[in-house]
Amino acid sequence: MTEFSRSFPEGFLFGAATAAYQIEGAAFEDGRTASIWDAFSRVPGAVIGADNGDVACDHYHRFRDDVALMKDLGLDTYRFSVSWSRVRPDGGPVNRKGLDFYERLVDELRANDILPWLTLYHWDLPQAIEEKGGWTVRSTSEQFLEYALSVHDALGDRVQNWTTLNEPWCSSFLSYTAGIHAPGRYSVTDGVLAAHHLMLGHGAVVRELRERDADLRLGITLNLTVADAVDPTDAADADAARRIDGQFNRWFLDPIFRGEYPADVIEDIRAVAPEAIDALEAANQPGDLNTISQPLDALGVNYYHGEFVGGAPDPQPPLPGDAPTDRPAASPFPSHEGIYWHDRGLPRTNMHWEVQPEGLTRLLQRVWAEYAQPAGTALYVTENGASYDDALVVEDGVARVHDLERTQFLLAHLDAILHAADAGVDVRGYFYWSLLDNFEWAWGYAKRFGIVHVDYDTQVRTAKDSALEYRRVIAARALDD
Ligand code: NOJ
Repeated sequence: MTEFSRSFPEGFLFGAATAAYQIEGAAFEDGRTASIWDAFSRVPGAVIGADNGDVACDHYHRFRDDVALMKDLGLDTYRFSVSWSRVRPDGGPVNRKGLDFYERLVDELRANDILPWLTLYHWDLPQAIEEKGGWTVRSTSEQFLEYALSVHDALGDRVQNWTTLNEPWCSSFLSYTAGIHAPGRYSVTDGVLAAHHLMLGHGAVVRELRERDADLRLGITLNLTVADAVDPTDAADADAARRIDGQFNRWFLDPIFRGEYPADVIEDIRAVAPEAIDALEAANQPGDLNTISQPLDALGVNYYHGEFVGGAPDPQPPLPGDAPTDRPAASPFPSHEGIYWHDRGLPRTNMHWEVQPEGLTRLLQRVWAEYAQPAGTALYVTENGASYDDALVVEDGVARVHDLERTQFLLAHLDAILHAADAGVDVRGYFYWSLLDNFEWAWGYAKRFGIVHVDYDTQVRTAKDSALEYRRVIAARALDD
């Protein structure tokens, strides 16, 4: 009989993730100016409850306490993002005070033996750059490189792990095509151009940082999914799954790992928006795909749920949950006609997202075999988490959150990672999203993903049961059998 070990691989990193706009607050302090999220959150109806990130978790002022919390949970690493608008307000000259904050944060992490895992862009483009075209124009990728180098000037000696972009699918199609995220545009062409310029900026930053310091570990984080056809033997169902996979996964994986756009997705988009492909062909200059496909040390996989799709409607369609706002929401998939989401009876979080941990195993195996292993790139799960209706209760004078569903979600996904590792996937870390309850973009503060509860009136933090269970797993570096 084979012995099945539930220990994590040697050196596996346990972490948690956040992003600047979602937690920092201090939105206009020490020289920071508006990002597209400061602007968008003020558009009537754009964010549930008209919430914004002005104060958020006030992490800008409380980061030392938050690092102490991480230490108490035993985290090996902390994934955070840098605010472009703090470091180069309006995309202009360097703001020393903005960089100082990240130096203080990184020093505090290192003093507590927590590995800093830095993301350069988590969706908060300076509004002044958006006003000059945002990610739809090439100059934004050049400005991104300048900004990245400023961050590296300050932190290059103290941070080894650098992620260029977080989830470029969201900062292109969800933002420029679906209108759901900032800047809230509705154009297939803009989404396609934004994706190209984001990836171009990514490649340029990787190339430059690599030249500056060969010891850096460089990567990107993508939101990837598993697209299952309702009936894989049905041509229309299989085609719906192919298109979702193409637009979510391969639109980014293929240029980044293979230096080419997927031909089938180009044709899908051309069929519905030929002008978008014409614009891409004009924007995609000789050498761009070479820049985009720089070798990477790390691929960050963000996984929340799979997609179960068919070519005909579900007689009992899944619960709606996709339109957070009262602004119109378009599909983020340029070629979405004839794609229908179905319900397969899985439990759902309060985002109405399926809980499908085995999808993570399959996703890691597939991305490893088809992209990462051939390129010599290691995998990290840089986000995975769940929002539920948490209740804070006081028991014997002690505040508690009994978030059993989140705890089970966390354990099930860690287990899914072990299955992938057992199958030979080189997966080296896991970051729960999120350390803290925070500003969930267009959903505002209404959704809580944290393993730590935040009372937004008092800013009091309370470790939920999921955090305590995570601490136990981290200490054991293993799951129970
Ligand atoms: C992905 C994003 O990176 C993060 O900002 C967001 O809060 C989570 N998913 C949950 O939706």
